Amino acid sequence: MGKPLILGVSASLRNARRGLGNKSLIEDIKQSKSEDELMNFLKQEAEVHLRNFQDSGRTESLPFDKMYSNLKKLKGNKGLSNSEVALTSALWSAHSLGCDIDHISLSEYYSESGVQNETEILQKLKDADGILISTPVYFGDRSSLGQTLIETIRKNPEWKAAVKGKVYAGLAVGAKRNGGQETTLIYQILDMLNVDMLCVGNDSETTSQYGGTGLAGDVGTMPSDDYGLATTMGTGRRISRVAQALSMGEEYKLRGKLKLQFWVLQDSEGYAVERIQKLISGKDIDAEIVDLTTKTIHRCLACDICPTHVSTDDEYRCIIKSKKDDLEDMHPVFLDSDAVIPVIYSKKDAASTVSNYQKFLERTRYLRRGDYLLSNTISAPIVLEEVGAHENMHVRAVTSMIRHHTVLSKPLIGIVHKNDVINWDEIKNGFDDLLHSCERLMKGKLATYSHDQEHLKYKPIGYVLSAVKDKEDEKLSRREAMMDERYRRNEDKLATKIEKK
Ligand SMILES: Cc1cc2nc3c(=O)[nH]c(=O)nc-3n(C[C@H](O)[C@H](O)[C@H](O)COP(=O)(O)O)c2cc1C
Repeated sequence: MGKPLILGVSASLRNARRGLGNKSLIEDIKQSKSEDELMNFLKQEAEVHLRNFQDSGRTESLPFDKMYSNLKKLKGNKGLSNSEVALTSALWSAHSLGCDIDHISLSEYYSESGVQNETEILQKLKDADGILISTPVYFGDRSSLGQTLIETIRKNPEWKAAVKGKVYAGLAVGAKRNGGQETTLIYQILDMLNVDMLCVGNDSETTSQYGGTGLAGDVGTMPSDDYGLATTMGTGRRISRVAQALSMGEEYKLRGKLKLQFWVLQDSEGYAVERIQKLISGKDIDAEIVDLTTKTIHRCLACDICPTHVSTDDEYRCIIKSKKDDLEDMHPVFLDSDAVIPVIYSKKDAASTVSNYQKFLERTRYLRRGDYLLSNTISAPIVLEEVGAHENMHVRAVTSMIRHHTVLSKPLIGIVHKNDVINWDEIKNGFDDLLHSCERLMKGKLATYSHDQEHLKYKPIGYVLSAVKDKEDEKLSRREAMMDERYRRNEDKLATKIEKK
C-alpha cells in the first residue's frame, strides 16, 4: 500500500511559486525535519517574497501594475505568499504524519490571457487522495482562482468523479482578525460537500473548527501568526490522518452491520420521522431514530466545568441531572455509532414546528469536551425543506457537527412541496452514497487499530478542566483509563465488524 497523496492547491493571486517552484517547494518541505526548521523556512521564504516585491518596484514606489509585471518576470521558484505559507505548513504536517504531498498554483493555469493546460489540474486531482486548498480571503470568500476551480469541478462530470469520495480540507488567510476566514472556509466546505467530497476541519489538538485560519495582510507577514499556523498545521494533520485511515480501510470488508443514529431535531406532526423510516426501510443497517422533538431537553447552563469529570465514555457527564430532562437517558445512544445524522424538517409556515435543535446541540458540548466522543464518525444532515422556508438548516447543522471532530458527508436536502419530497430519488441515492462513505470511514477508523499506526489513532486531548477539579495527576490517570477503554472498545469492534479482504 503506497502512501496516500495530499495535493496542496494554492489559490493565491500573488503566489510566489509556479513552474519548477512547485517541485522545489515539495522538496524543501520534505527536507524540513522539525517544526523549528519549518518555521525558519517559512520566515525566510516570506522575506524573499517581500524582497521580490521591493525589488520589483515597491521600494521605488512604482505603480502596482508595473510592479506586477516585473514580478511576473521572476522564475517562480522562490518565496511564499501569505496563503502559500499557510499551505506549506499544512503540507508539512500532512507529510510528517505519513502522507505523500504535491503542490499546484492555480494562477499558472488560469491566467489573465485564459485557461492553460487545465487537464494537468484534472490529472493532479485524479492522482490525489486528499485535497487541501489554501486561499486568501477576498470579500469574506475565496479568491477568484479558487472560484474557477470549484466552477470547473461543478461543470464537468469527469472532474466531479475525480474528487468524489476524497477528503477535502481548507485554509483561508485574511488581513483582518474577523475578515471572513471562517465564512470562506464554510462556503468552501459546502461546495466541496456538494461535489461529494468528505470534508474535515482542523484537528482536536487545535480547535476542531472549519480549517486553518491565518491573519496576515501585507506581503511577508503570515509567519508571525503563530495561532494561525497552529490551525493550518492542525488541518494538515487532520486531512493526513483521515486520508490514511480511508486508505487502510480499503484492505477490509464489513462483517457486521453499520450502526446509524438519527437525531430528529426539528419536526412537524411526525413528518420527518416518517420519512426517515421510509428511507431506511429494507436497508441492512442498525438504525436508531431518536425523536428529540418529543423529549424534554433543558438548555445548557453554560457551566465552567463541562464535562463534570473525567471518566469513560459510557458515563453521562453533563451537569444537568434533572429527572425532567431526557438527555441522561439518551446517553447510551451516543456510544459507538458509525454515523450521526441530524434530521430537520423546515416548514415555511412554522406554526406547527417543534424544535429542540439548538438546545440539543448546546447540550452535546459535554461529548465534545469529554474528548470528542464523536471523533471520526461520519455526519451528514438530512434536511427536509419546504419551498420558501429559507432556514438554511443544513448550513447550521454542518458547521455545528464539524465541531465534534466528525467527517462531513454531503447533506441530503429534500425539497418539500405540497407535503411531498419532490427530489425523493435524489435523497435515496444520496443516502446510499452516505452508507458507502460511512462504511469506508468506519473500516478506516477501525483499521488504524489493527496496524502499527500509533500516530494515526485518535488521541483525545479535551479541554483543560476547571481549577476546582481533580488534581492533575489523578486527572491524567483517569484520562488514560478513558483512552484505554476507548481503544479497547474499538479493538473489540474491529474483531467483530470488519475482516481482511
Ligand atoms: C480584493 C481584495 C479583497 C480582500 N478582502 C479581504 C476580506 O474580505 N477580508 C480580509 O481579512 N482580507 C481581505 N483581503 C486581504 C487578503 O486576504 C490578504 O492580503 C491576504 O494575506 C492575501 O494572501 P496572499 O498573500 O496569499 O495573496 C482582501 C484583499 C484584496 C486584494
